[in-house]
Amino acid sequence: MPLFYQHNINETTKIGIWRIEEHEDFFLQRVPLLNDVSHPYKRLQHLAGRYLLPVLFNDFPLDEIIIADTKKPFLENEQYHFSISHSGNFVAAIASKENRVGVDLELVTPRINNISGKFLSDSEKKYIDGWNELPQLKLQLTTVYWSAKEALFKWYGKGGVDFRKHIEINSVKHNRNKGSLDCLFKKEGMTELVVHYQLFTGFVSAWVCT
Ligand SMILES: CC(C)(COP(=O)(O)OP(=O)(O)OC[C@H]1O[C@@H](n2cnc3c(N)ncnc32)[C@H](O)[C@@H]1OP(=O)(O)O)[C@@H](O)C(=O)NCCC(=O)NCCS
Repeated sequence: MPLFYQHNINETTKIGIWRIEEHEDFFLQRVPLLNDVSHPYKRLQHLAGRYLLPVLFNDFPLDEIIIADTKKPFLENEQYHFSISHSGNFVAAIASKENRVGVDLELVTPRINNISGKFLSDSEKKYIDGWNELPQLKLQLTTVYWSAKEALFKWYGKGGVDFRKHIEINSVKHNRNKGSLDCLFKKEGMTELVVHYQLFTGFVSAWVCT
């Protein structure tokens, strides 16, 4: 079974990562295709993300998912809060009966350095540059910062987030292959949040649960 990773965040919140090895017919047995996703691989990722939700909570009502104008998927009655991310052949999903959540998964590639100026503030860049002696960890950490901001974007769900201006990452607690980031989300007031992350071979994942 290609459930690659699963973790119970608290009593009502679970996160999972699926490694896609199946054809889309496998997912279509359980997942209603409500979105018109024309690109075959994107459709496969989309279906796998949906499929993972009832793997986490078997009463998850997939057929009740609605897409907001902002593109955020949600359940009208908020039976679950949830978030999905896909990159390459990995898909992450987080679902919670009580907490607002956001998840992101990113492959680690040096291409992130081409866009880091768009999402890192000067002080965040300076902090990451301090990891120069460990180039692989520096690349992973840059990807973690991007992933954390994407997870916060999804957690917020209303769009209009400037990653440099509205999300400030103030400190990093890193231990072996995982850690947490103390963040300040600066829209609709100031909200202090902790984003958790984990490093895997070839990719990283970040999630927030409040
Ligand atoms: C929407 C966005 C977060 C998707 O990120 P991505 O890396 O392209 O794709 P991911 O696989 O991680 O996430 C896609 C999933 O996010 C979810 N999603 C889409 N829009 C969303 C939104 N506005 N809010 C919450 N979740 C959203 C969907 O579940 C989608 O998957 P699905 O359509 O198969 O269900 C991204 O395109 C985006 O707009 N980012 C913020 C803006 C930005 O990048 N600014 C530039 C700063 S430098």
